[in-house]
Order: sequence, then C-alpha cells, then structure tokens
Amino acid sequence: MSSEPHPTAILTGASGGIGAAIVAELLSLGYQVYGIGRDFSKKDSPKATEFFHPVELDLTDTAALTDYLVPLQKKHAVSLLVNNAGVGYFGLHEELNSRKIHEMVMVNVEVPMLLSQLFLRDLKQLRGQIINISSVTAHKSNPHGCAYGATKAALSSFSSSLFDEARKYGVRITGIHPDMTVSNFYRNADFDTDGDVQCSLTPQDVASAVRSVITARDGMVITDITLKPQLHRLHRK
Ligand SMILES: NC(=O)c1ccc[n+]([C@@H]2O[C@H](COP(=O)([O-])OP(=O)(O)OC[C@H]3O[C@@H](n4cnc5c(N)ncnc54)[C@H](OP(=O)(O)O)[C@@H]3O)[C@@H](O)[C@H]2O)c1
Repeated sequence: MSSEPHPTAILTGASGGIGAAIVAELLSLGYQVYGIGRDFSKKDSPKATEFFHPVELDLTDTAALTDYLVPLQKKHAVSLLVNNAGVGYFGLHEELNSRKIHEMVMVNVEVPMLLSQLFLRDLKQLRGQIINISSVTAHKSNPHGCAYGATKAALSSFSSSLFDEARKYGVRITGIHPDMTVSNFYRNADFDTDGDVQCSLTPQDVASAVRSVITARDGMVITDITLKPQLHRLHRK
C-alpha cells in the first residue's frame, strides 16, 4: 500500500456480485475506491460514500474509459488495480455469435491488459499491486464454455508473466481463481450455482482472498489463489 492515509484503488465490476464484496473489503482496509460498472442502481450495488466513487462506464468503450482514468491518474496515486469485471456466455461454441465472443475477449482480457498498461508505471513507483479475478476455468478444459475459459486462461497467463516482468520493481500481481460463486453471473447460462453453501462460494469468500493478498507481508507475494467449494454440484435451470 502507498503511504497516503487513503490509498487509491481502481476496481472494475464494482456494481454487484463479487465486486460489491470487494468494495466493502477495500473500504475496510482504508482505501478510497473508484469502482467501475455500467449500472449502480441494482439492489446489491454499493452506494457512493466519501471513499467509494461509483463510475458508470461501459468497459468496452475504451476511449471513454481512458478519458475518465487519465485525469484521475494525474490527481491520485493509484496503488491498487483490481480487474474483476467479467462476462461469460456458455453453450456450444457454434451457437455463440461474434458480438458475444468480442465482448468476452474485451471485458475479460483486453481491458485488464489496457488498465495494467495504463497504471504500471505508477504501480512501479508506488510498489503497488494488481489483482486479477480469473477463474478455475483458466486451468481446465471447458466444453460449453470454450471461449470464456480461453479468456480466463489468457488473463491468468498475462497475470503471471506480468508479475515476472515487474516483480523487481516491487509490484505484486495476483491471479485469483474462484470456482462457482453465487452472483448474477450465470444469467445467460442454462445452469446456475447450487443453493447449498457446501456447493458454491460466496462473493465474500473471494473478497476475503483479496484481503489476504493485500495484507501479505512485504517481501512475500501470493501470485495465485484457487478457491473451490467443498462439493462439486451445479443447478440445471
Ligand atoms: N460467479 C462465478 O461463479 C465466478 C467464478 C469464477 C470467476 N468469476 C469471475 O468473477 C468476476 C466477477 O463476476 P461476478 O460473479 O461478480 O459476476 P456479475 O455479478 O455478473 O458481475 C460482473 C461485474 O462486471 C461488470 N461488467 C461486466 N461487463 C461490463 C462492461 N462492459 N462494462 C462495465 N462493467 C462490466 C458488471 O457491471 P454491470 O452489470 O453494472 O455492467 C458487474 O459489476 C468475473 O470476472 C467472473 O468471470 C465468477
């Protein structure tokens, strides 16, 4: 963390689900958080406070994104970037369309790469940190989620390579790999998380992993975390 009383964090996908739980965790760690999402009017969206700034932006509009972030970067020393926003479309690969494939590649891979590039010099100066919310799908074969799994494999590969590139500057980079987590993520799928807490993670489980990564002692870096529920079971809609 930087020595500012309220170090600045950028978090994508802050408007609900796992991101909303990460917002609460970052605020409890003393960060001021700029959280990006398209719609903060949802029931579980965190509300604006002195230290939480909801930013309504579509991440696929990368021109608007950089127009917002470049001036912010001049005003605040950003010491933490959490790439959490993600989108998944599932089913037989031939049933996806180019718009869905493009959206997954943009949101899940291209935007984390762009944001990392934008903030990396600052993070090197501040000995800051990037946390990428990937997925267990990054490490396995994903029939009915071939493109989604490939985007997460790319994000995890990017994450570990960038750590090796930037570690000598004191930058810490972590990929977190959750299994199925209760959120609105599977709204486009023909399956969802099982209701039993033994069979799925909670957004708070992932947020607690984020806390562990941030509070690790100086000199020790948690580069990867995989989180799985005790039991493997999902719910067919
Ligand atoms: N849920 C799971 O089982 C699970 C498992 C492993 C990994 N993950 C990963 O965890 C991350 C968070 O997922 P979640 O479960 O919390 O899903 P979620 O409830 O669907 O939340 C996704 C977040 O990403 C934001 N987002 C998506 N597309 C965006 C865009 N074009 N522009 C701006 N914001 C955008 C959404 O904001 P708006 O809706 O306001 O646009 C929302 O805040 C994702 O990267 C996902 O791949 C989830």
